[in-house]
Amino acid sequence: MHTRLATSGDAAAIAEIYNREVTEGTATFDMVPRTEAEQLAWMREHSGAYPCVVATSGQEAGATVMGWACLSPYRPRPAYSTSVEDSIYVHRDHQGRGVGDLLLGHLVALADDHGFHATFARIADAGAASIALHSKHGFDLVGVEREVGRKFGRWLDVTVMQRLRPR
Ligand SMILES: CC(C)(COP(=O)(O)OP(=O)(O)OC[C@H]1O[C@@H](n2cnc3c(N)ncnc32)[C@H](O)[C@@H]1OP(=O)(O)O)[C@@H](O)C(=O)NCCC(=O)NCCS
Repeated sequence: MHTRLATSGDAAAIAEIYNREVTEGTATFDMVPRTEAEQLAWMREHSGAYPCVVATSGQEAGATVMGWACLSPYRPRPAYSTSVEDSIYVHRDHQGRGVGDLLLGHLVALADDHGFHATFARIADAGAASIALHSKHGFDLVGVEREVGRKFGRWLDVTVMQRLRPR
């Protein structure tokens, strides 16, 4: 297993992993799958300070993309610019085998390298795996936003977790 910065060549694999959670899961509040064009635009926004990393089955060209994780701006107003939000999605066929652990380790290291002071995770529907994974990587519970979203005919909470860059 290997992690690296994503390239535009990973767009289709990233979209496939994400779109399954859009249509079948509650981890994301998106309701409509991303098109190829939207995914490519998203890739352009997730570079530089706000990277996307992928976990692959090996280092060779054509290795399977098993999951991805990214940093995004937390809020648009300027004083929030020292904070970021993470996203992490592992293909359902590859969950529970350490892929998310590897991805979040790489992503948190990038957030520190890029000088971000606070990294937030907004975890929908009390996702147990995501809460445990973020705890393992130094995120603490901030609180729970109750019934802030609605999908598949039910209310969804968002658990907010936060990690500060080590001083
Ligand atoms: C949440 C997710 C990213 C975790 O990735 P993963 O590759 O399945 O997790 P890993 O195998 O790397 O496990 C890492 C840690 O997560 C926790 N974990 C993983 N699966 C778990 C489960 N089913 N229940 C509770 N904790 C779990 C454990 O703490 C584990 O560490 P350990 O093995 O040392 O105990 C992945 O399950 C996923 O993509 N889920 C759907 C989308 C999603 O919820 N994304 C998060 C949005 S915030």
